[in-house]
Amino acid sequence: MPARQIDPPPRLLMGPGPVNGDPRVLRAMSAALLGQYDPAMTALMTETQGLYRDVFRTANDATLLVDGTSRAGIEAALVSLIVPGDRVLVPRFGRFGHLLVEIAERCGAEVHVVDAAWGETVPLERIADAIALVRPKLVAVVHGDTSTTIAQPLEELGALCREAGALLYVDATATLGGNEFRTDEWGVDVVTAGLQKCLGGPSGSAPITLSRAAVAVIDSRRSVEAGIRADDEEAAPPAERIRSNYFDLGMILDYWGPARLNHHTEATSMLYGARECARVLLQEGLDAAIARHRRHGRAMLAGVQGLGLRPFGDLEHRMTNIVAVHIPEGVVGDAVRAAMLADYGIEIGTSFGPLHGRVWRIGTMGVNARRDAVLLTLAALEQALRRAGVAVPAGGGTEAALDVYGGKP
Ligand SMILES: Cc1ncc(COP(=O)(O)O)c(C=O)c1O
Repeated sequence: MPARQIDPPPRLLMGPGPVNGDPRVLRAMSAALLGQYDPAMTALMTETQGLYRDVFRTANDATLLVDGTSRAGIEAALVSLIVPGDRVLVPRFGRFGHLLVEIAERCGAEVHVVDAAWGETVPLERIADAIALVRPKLVAVVHGDTSTTIAQPLEELGALCREAGALLYVDATATLGGNEFRTDEWGVDVVTAGLQKCLGGPSGSAPITLSRAAVAVIDSRRSVEAGIRADDEEAAPPAERIRSNYFDLGMILDYWGPARLNHHTEATSMLYGARECARVLLQEGLDAAIARHRRHGRAMLAGVQGLGLRPFGDLEHRMTNIVAVHIPEGVVGDAVRAAMLADYGIEIGTSFGPLHGRVWRIGTMGVNARRDAVLLTLAALEQALRRAGVAVPAGGGTEAALDVYGGKP
């Protein structure tokens, strides 16, 4: 039987991401395809680089897209920077810190970890002590760990790393565009992201920016396969060669750079989408978009508290764009999530590992960082909780959120 045309059910995606795609982004992705060396295509690539420099708040030339989900950006950064045997320090406070450890280990690094309990940040002094002890080549950290909804303060970490001669890598997948992030001012060498959170696009493209120091490390490892150093006796010895072709940032930089040396075939529709995500964000203004995420995140937090739910984790360091709450005693969290999806078409999330089934995570990001989405979700959650046997104050969630909005639209 022939497959039917795709017709996904209507959903309001209020989980930890992905979120609903901004209609402008989805429209941009259906634009006509171009050949990869068509001047119109290379011009779009160059424009996209410029837009992401503004989004990352950086002057880095090496600002581009890695084709693949956010994890592709992480893997490209780590496999390109880490030479087997390098010492890498990971301050870890959630699931995505575990991911950094796992990828760094696969790259052959000697990985050291400074752990904080889930729901907390890693104190700067503990990171400083670990840097002094380990003397890492690279410090790799997540900015906002979606699994716990907590954001690690980064303002002083770059200076600390620079003093110690270490590079700083940050995974900003879940925070970029909706939380303050200042690549150059904070001294971050490499940042990677994704589209499916505050940038309001689909997953599948990983914006990345690299400092000169990071590019220098990659340049020193250039593979002969890049074709430009084939006759060069000083070409990197095999042990130093980047152990991935697809994620070799040296080769990817050559493809995005003026030489346009062939590597992969740029994912054209994803490029259109990533470009539109950045364009839409910058048209609103970065500061305005961050303030919008903060406002609607605060309304959601007040709303769930108004329903009598207890927030999870250190509220002083919470991400603007996701709230985590403890699932009330005796309630089957997944049953409430299923009811919200079936009855209202609204998706909320649970979490991973030790938090699975213990918390719900409710996102307000991208196009869904807006008043009606917050109020609808709170109204549906109130009803789903009541049907699950929880005594919730009538209208407690929406009233508390409306108080945060203070009568303003
Ligand atoms: C902080 C963080 N890093 C990395 C990822 C992995 O992203 P992807 O699923 O796009 O590969 C996620 C996804 O939720 C994330 O929240």
